[in-house]
Amino acid sequence: MDFEDEFEEEILRHRVRQESDRKIFEKVFDKQTIMTIHQLATKGLFDVLEHVISTGKEAHVFAATDDSGNTRAVKIFKKETTDFKSMADYIVGDVRFKDIRKDRRNLVFAWTKKEYKNIIAANNARLSVPLALGHKDNVIVMEYIGEGDEPCPKLKELKPTKEELLDYKRQLIDFVAGFYNAGLVHADLSEYNVLVKGNRLVVIDFAQAVLLNHQKAREFFERDVVNLANYFNKSGLETSYEELYAGIKTRAKELETSK
Ligand SMILES: Nc1ncnc2c1ncn2[C@@H]1O[C@H](COP(=O)(O)OP(=O)(O)O)[C@@H](O)[C@H]1O
Ligand SMILES: [Mg+2]
Repeated sequence: MDFEDEFEEEILRHRVRQESDRKIFEKVFDKQTIMTIHQLATKGLFDVLEHVISTGKEAHVFAATDDSGNTRAVKIFKKETTDFKSMADYIVGDVRFKDIRKDRRNLVFAWTKKEYKNIIAANNARLSVPLALGHKDNVIVMEYIGEGDEPCPKLKELKPTKEELLDYKRQLIDFVAGFYNAGLVHADLSEYNVLVKGNRLVVIDFAQAVLLNHQKAREFFERDVVNLANYFNKSGLETSYEELYAGIKTRAKELETSK
């Protein structure tokens, strides 16, 4: 084993708490990712990756703690993501990324940066999303949406009452309208990408979100509204696409004039 390998092992031992997670890490992430984790940690964004919260197709999400014991969420994008082709669909046509080289590694880095920028835009618009804390290459550090040790459940996992559903509808209209006013469309909005913290909804998962001038922005916007209408109907709150769409439009105007 050479010095470099020893150094990486040392980093993993120090930065990843659970041995089982270290195994995932070694299998899924390359040297560069290990160094990126180390660099972000050295900057003080977190100290140790405590445990895996989610292993997805394109990214793994860890709960991490910093020196003062604050919990953070660390989203690490995989380089050998299977959805490579559909990623390009959301990046090509985004003026913010018109100059990126289209090899796999750079596309994943651009994808990560895109999620980070989109979260920042939502933060600046004061929308209910995690606070973005930092990013580098294929790693994003953000506010952890949880209560105690437990990450908050996805909307998908709950059975809200009618009263709660009415409130959630209002909150989601607020989000879509506010994000629209910030010039963006989420493009993967559904009960799978909304966490529930007490009675507050927190929208997550922004890599695929596009600017309004993207050629498919309207299509994605309409699909988001369809997904939300489907969710409410399935959950027992009759909601037509037209009603939701009109609600978002009205809310966007209200927010715009109340600035
Ligand atoms: N900031 C966060 N706080 C707590 N849990 C999170 C956070 N971000 C993501 N998660 C968890 O990780 C899962 C996957 O994250 P997400 O951004 O939706 O990635 P993907 O769906 O692309 O894998 C979420 O469903 C949620 O359970
Ligand atoms: Mg998701």
